[in-house]
Amino acid sequence: MREVNTFALANGEGWNLPVNEFDSFPQFIQQTVRDELSAGRSKEYYRSRLKALGFENMDRVLDAGCGTGQWSVALASLNKRVDAIDVDDDCLRFSALLASSGNATNCYVQKASIATLPFSDSSFDGITCYSVLMLCGKHPIEVFKEFHRVLKPGGKLYLSVDTWGWYLHLLIDQGILGSQRYRIPYVFRYFLRTIKHWITGREVRFVLTKSFLRGALAKAGFESKHMAHEGGINQNKNSVTVRPAIPKRFYGFQAIIDVLAIKR
Ligand SMILES: C[S@@+](CC[C@H](N)C(=O)[O-])C[C@H]1O[C@@H](n2cnc3c(N)ncnc32)[C@H](O)[C@@H]1O
Repeated sequence: MREVNTFALANGEGWNLPVNEFDSFPQFIQQTVRDELSAGRSKEYYRSRLKALGFENMDRVLDAGCGTGQWSVALASLNKRVDAIDVDDDCLRFSALLASSGNATNCYVQKASIATLPFSDSSFDGITCYSVLMLCGKHPIEVFKEFHRVLKPGGKLYLSVDTWGWYLHLLIDQGILGSQRYRIPYVFRYFLRTIKHWITGREVRFVLTKSFLRGALAKAGFESKHMAHEGGINQNKNSVTVRPAIPKRFYGFQAIIDVLAIKR
């Protein structure tokens, strides 16, 4: 029996994807669509998350590491212009398709790295960077300096990063108890790099913590306004209800750190 078309599942959440394009995307995009654009993750869901963070009515917002573009398209519905960047060609093609099929004509998708942003100083009112920082291969402080450069004074940064609980979840639930064996060496490499970071201070990829993020953001010129678990920041409690996408903790450790920071 043919697998249920993932794009059709996402369309059940209102995403409007052209179902006949389904087969032209690699497996990892189809899996991401299943995880991130289906099962209760509608455009309205992402809009509510952004409203809770105060990402609306801005002139220009950057979605840094847009992946499949669901945050970008939701941002485009709340703000005047969105620039969506990623380094992966399949992600960029999918994001552009999601934007065009959702009539997000104010969403501009292009290939670029968060390590060296192709934008002038003080271009953006806000930046979202969800689940990207751990993957980019540049020291977080350098990335924060780059975000600081392209933000206008007072501009907002929403950051979501993995921490200890998430790595334990990948290692134990997905790698050891589940079928994703490749997670095991991946997580061990991450833990080893973290130990190297503690000893030498010269590692680029390591497990990020609240205290590290607070210090690194301050060094780059940001004030950390809020830090919470994934989906835990809500600046508009009176008008928006927020449902986190990820459990707060795994094995007693916080899974994800959400940060809302302001350019000083
Ligand atoms: C876990 S996905 C998250 C994507 C998206 N933000 C989301 O919430 O679905 C990580 C994304 O970061 C992208 N990425 C990795 N390194 C990057 C870099 N240096 N600059 C921009 N994007 C990067 C990957 O291609 C991938 O699409």
